[in-house]
Amino acid sequence: MSGPDPLDPATLEQAGTGALAAFAAARSLPELAVTRTEHLGDRSPVALARRAIAGLPGPQKAEAGKRVHALAQSSQAAYEARKVELERQRDERVLAEEAVDVTVLPERPDGARHPLTTISERVADVFVAMGWELAEGPEVEHEWFNFDALNFGGDHPAREMQDTLFVEPAGSGLVLRTHTSPVQVRSMLDRELPVHVVCPGRVYRADALDATHSPVFAQVEGLCVDEGITMAHLRGTLDHLATAVFGEGLRTRIRPNYFPFTEPSAELDLQCFACRGASAGSGAEPCRVCASEGWIEWGGCGMVHPAVLVACGIDPERYSGFAFGMGLERTLMFRHGIESIRDFYEGDSRFTLSLRSEA
Ligand code: DAH
Repeated sequence: MSGPDPLDPATLEQAGTGALAAFAAARSLPELAVTRTEHLGDRSPVALARRAIAGLPGPQKAEAGKRVHALAQSSQAAYEARKVELERQRDERVLAEEAVDVTVLPERPDGARHPLTTISERVADVFVAMGWELAEGPEVEHEWFNFDALNFGGDHPAREMQDTLFVEPAGSGLVLRTHTSPVQVRSMLDRELPVHVVCPGRVYRADALDATHSPVFAQVEGLCVDEGITMAHLRGTLDHLATAVFGEGLRTRIRPNYFPFTEPSAELDLQCFACRGASAGSGAEPCRVCASEGWIEWGGCGMVHPAVLVACGIDPERYSGFAFGMGLERTLMFRHGIESIRDFYEGDSRFTLSLRSEA
């Protein structure tokens, strides 16, 4: 046999000290695993020594066996102890590194109130400041309030002016309100005269969603009924609203129109917020907001039709009233150059944030 005798006591002693030193020096579990192969693996001095025992004459076996066993045991024990120590260090480090501080505030993206909420409140505030009251009505509305009481005849083509979403079952008499005007009827029936109410709310129509239509949108309605109310009161009120929403100096104009619930009825136009009318009929820069019309259609208005007053138990000989209604998305669209009504309904907080302080 060549090379050093694996069973030589000095060799064994050296292997033992070497193993203990190597295990103690291992700084991590992977490092320890490598050392283990070296000092306790198949080709380690202990393993070689164990194999060499077989070749010894019988009487020497027990003695050598004891020595090799002692070496194996002390090396194994040193390995185990180091392993326990390194595992403890690792666990401590992982605990520290992966600790979760439950007192840290979560990171949340900024949000803002929806511009339709803000504009509804702003318009309502303008009227509340003049002593008007806020009124509400249901979004699932009875046809009588949505149409009949507002002087839409049963088969009158005017019913088709508004693409109605009917509530099942057929004949339930219920619709998703197509406008906020039924709140006028509810207000006149519920309240003492005189009535001054402003009613912002959601309305529904069977329209497909595109840049200018949405099956749900927001309107604001106003109604004033008292003795001696004339169209001059209507004009003055609308001018006041235009100034409050769009700032000083924008004119309004009314043009004849038809609504079943007002007589006379008018379309309400607002001087273009962007070009202030400058683009109309001149060679000046074309205006994208008003298509160089100088005016923008803002809403409808008129004097409450006597038939509506009668349906609400009000004497049209003694009382008269005016009413108006307009879309709130439209209002914000031309005030802020918003090109698609979809922006209001997609829930993208960047849109909401961009109008945060504006509405
Ligand atoms: N309800 C009408 C619509 O949705 C708007 C409207 C027009 C309301 C004239 C009014 C009004 O109060 O007087 O198209």
